[in-house]
Amino acid sequence: MRVGILTGGGDCPGLNAAIRAVVRKGEVAYGDQLIGFLDAWDGVRERRYIHLDVSSLRGMLPKGGTLLGTRRGSPYDHADGPRQVIDAFSELELDALIVIGGNGSLSVACQLHAEFGLPIVGVPKTIDNDVVGTDVTFGFNTAVQIATDAIDRLHTTAESHDRVMVVEVMGRHAGWIATHAGIAGGATVILIPEQPFDIDEVCSILKQRHGRGRYASIVVVAEGAEPASGTLPPSEKIYDKFGHVRLGGIAETVAHAIEARTGFESRVVLLGHIQRGGTPTAYDRVLSTRYGVEAIDAVHARAWGQMTVLRGNDIVLAPLAETVGRTRPVDLHLYRDVASVFFG
Ligand code: F6P
Repeated sequence: MRVGILTGGGDCPGLNAAIRAVVRKGEVAYGDQLIGFLDAWDGVRERRYIHLDVSSLRGMLPKGGTLLGTRRGSPYDHADGPRQVIDAFSELELDALIVIGGNGSLSVACQLHAEFGLPIVGVPKTIDNDVVGTDVTFGFNTAVQIATDAIDRLHTTAESHDRVMVVEVMGRHAGWIATHAGIAGGATVILIPEQPFDIDEVCSILKQRHGRGRYASIVVVAEGAEPASGTLPPSEKIYDKFGHVRLGGIAETVAHAIEARTGFESRVVLLGHIQRGGTPTAYDRVLSTRYGVEAIDAVHARAWGQMTVLRGNDIVLAPLAETVGRTRPVDLHLYRDVASVFFG
């Protein structure tokens, strides 16, 4: 078969490992020809692609980022976009397309399959871990490890100076990174998008801690966390060209409010894109490799409109339609009944 691959949305560690796995099994087990589209859907519309084979993927397993490049945006952003994608399938004689992406790219893949019957298989990735249908997306484990390492380092400087360190991690709609890194790093408080926070409650936790002689604290805040209504003024919303709110800055608001209400010296650390960069953890290398192998098997099973997902310990297929327009919130049992046991 002639199979295309693209990576869409924000990059994450493990993308190259997934591409490598598709190519390895496709070429060696099935005798496929594989092409990689550059810069996500733009490469499909504009016929920008490279040939992929086992030798061209050598050394890519531990490399972060994506050798294909990635973009946000969709063919539906262009008047003729879907038609250009359909034409690319016939001109390039594509038998299938594997779309490795987060909620946005997988929703586009689902729509193109549903509207035009395009033979597409999806693979979920994102550091945010918020794709509905799978227990884990690859990239998440690496981001949690990076954030945990940072929190470990912040403890010592916080203790030296008796400061509150407010650490902002990614997590646009879901507090997965904040909750996991907060538990792993021993956070004093964790603030997540799913649970609007009351700054006075945060301050009272910090004051009680100080009362016990613990003068250093780590507050982990997900970038999408929001104050409960009426507690703090809402922050100004800035949008990117795709209509996404450009997040980043809630930690500043929280630190400022903590210092003003408690008098405790506070500092802000924005981990930002560091969480998306660099080499994947062993867990993410294994997960993305398993997804890649399952994806090319799904192509040969003609499982169009499906995506590879992790359920328990098994990689299986689930309809792309399950993810469309939805995000997977953090496990509130984990947040309320485990993480919060250690608040204060
Ligand atoms: O890919 C998900 C994500 O990392 C979010 O957590 C974050 O809000 C967003 O991407 C940042 O996107 P960009 O790299 O386009 O600024």
